[in-house]
Amino acid sequence: MPKLRLAVVGAGPAGIYASDILLKHERAFDVSIDLFDHLPAPYGLVRYGVAPDHPRIKGIINALRDVLDRGDIRIFGNVRFGVDITLDDLKKHYNAVIFATGAVKDAPLDIPGIDLPGSYGAADFVSWYDGHPDFPREWPLEAQSLAVIGNGNVALDVARVLAKHADDLLPTEIPANVYEGLKKSPVTDVHVFGRRGPMQVKFTPLELRELGELRDVDMIVHDEDFDYDEASLAAIKSNKQVMVIDKVLKQWRERPVGEASRRLHLHFFAKPLEVVAGPDGSVASFKYERTEPDGAGGVRGTGEIREVPIQALYRAVGYFGSPLDGVPFDDERGVIPNHEGQALDEHNQIVPGVYATGWIKRGPVGLIGHTKSDAMETISHLVNDQASWWTPESPSEDSVVELLDSRGVQYTDLDGWHRLDEHEIALGAAEDRARIKVVPRDEMVKVSRGE
Ligand SMILES: Cc1cc2nc3c(=O)[nH]c(=O)nc-3n(C[C@H](O)[C@H](O)[C@H](O)COP(=O)(O)OP(=O)(O)OC[C@H]3O[C@@H](n4cnc5c(N)ncnc54)[C@H](O)[C@@H]3O)c2cc1C
Ligand SMILES: NC(=O)c1ccc[n+]([C@@H]2O[C@H](COP(=O)([O-])OP(=O)(O)OC[C@H]3O[C@@H](n4cnc5c(N)ncnc54)[C@H](OP(=O)(O)O)[C@@H]3O)[C@@H](O)[C@H]2O)c1
Repeated sequence: MPKLRLAVVGAGPAGIYASDILLKHERAFDVSIDLFDHLPAPYGLVRYGVAPDHPRIKGIINALRDVLDRGDIRIFGNVRFGVDITLDDLKKHYNAVIFATGAVKDAPLDIPGIDLPGSYGAADFVSWYDGHPDFPREWPLEAQSLAVIGNGNVALDVARVLAKHADDLLPTEIPANVYEGLKKSPVTDVHVFGRRGPMQVKFTPLELRELGELRDVDMIVHDEDFDYDEASLAAIKSNKQVMVIDKVLKQWRERPVGEASRRLHLHFFAKPLEVVAGPDGSVASFKYERTEPDGAGGVRGTGEIREVPIQALYRAVGYFGSPLDGVPFDDERGVIPNHEGQALDEHNQIVPGVYATGWIKRGPVGLIGHTKSDAMETISHLVNDQASWWTPESPSEDSVVELLDSRGVQYTDLDGWHRLDEHEIALGAAEDRARIKVVPRDEMVKVSRGE
């Protein structure tokens, strides 16, 4: 029986679902899959993006783990594509590759002052609080008043973590340094700015409602933002999510503001203009233009400029994928250009043997579940493309191990992940917590490799 030796780069949900779907797919060939990730632990943004106080979503890890625990996918953690292994290497050892490398960087927000000290990307902050090994251990949390730009779920995650009392995050898996950092935060006011109206937000009702349940945090909304236009009224009628968002915001408008020690303000119709520096050169205020509905779901500027004093700003205006050596890349969208998962070159021609799935295929939008349907589409092409797969020089399973060993790559495997997992659970148990994440990469690798 012919055999497909497949490399999958990226052990986030997209890479794991794609591997699982292929193994279960009806096919006339055998399959062996090697799954590479540059992190020593799998699960991508489920481990390093989903907020620690969302344990139900973090629980998706259990389903992904069940797939890996079956043992029919070989894992190589701590192996970075483009550094430890290249496209030429993959061509020598495999018939095809699926890239599922997601996105970890912040999309840019091109306004003056965005690079000032005190102005941060939400993705970097998320990586810090979720204990990503490649980000600094310390995070400067000195601001009393701060701005979060964007009206997506990441903006709400970041605003919630910034506004929440550190002790309320302690039952989660946050690393010790994150708890210590948040505990010292003097924050009193978190301002979230959306450039469109409350009925055009990208965040979802559950995540909005959760803000109103934070202990010792008052929600502040402003009546001027609720003079709905026809498009907004139509959206409330036709879309259940929008209807619920309207209801939640209405409750906050109607209830008296309490006396909490922290406030979370939602500002709509606020188009970012500038981050303004103070005398010490760091963030001192945020300037925005008031917008108004254009009647079609969009907004137009009113010319009215406003300024709020703040000491820190977080832009949560989306994520952005990173290019991979030797692989086509669309610089504008931050994705591998593709036709339903088949990579396309600069002439829009299919690149044989190269596939994409997940956020690096579709862009950084959508929930974990969406990566499953993505993977199905990509796999159905891979299976049908048998005639154009690569013919590897060294297809044996040992040859890749020999290559990594010859390069001194300290890769981790499934047993290693189990060791790290158990170690983190034991660290948590000692403090009556479910888990405490290990953050430094060398420590993760040491524990995984049993050294
Ligand atoms: C802050 C945040 C919170 C979220 N919360 C939720 C939520 O609550 N619920 C929900 O349904 N969705 C949530 N999402 C969306 C969800 O995380 C994504 O839909 C999903 O993770 C995308 O999967 P992916 O596998 O394409 O990418 P990723 O999860 O990013 O996985 C990509 C993997 O590729 C690896 N990789 C990257 N480059 C290389 C390389 N060069 N070599 C080797 N490996 C590499 C990475 O280490 C990573 O493990 C959230 C997203 C963010 C950003
Ligand atoms: N709990 C969860 O389920 C959860 C948590 C986190 C993330 N996620 C998912 O992960 C995906 C990514 O989330 P995300 O929040 O990064 O992206 P997103 O949903 O695309 O939201 C991005 C936000 O940034 C705004 N924005 C973009 N450019 C801007 C600019 N120049 N100026 C001002 N605002 C700007 C957008 O406004 P416009 O709408 O006006 O463009 C939008 O409000 C989403 O699918 C999200 O649902 C889910």
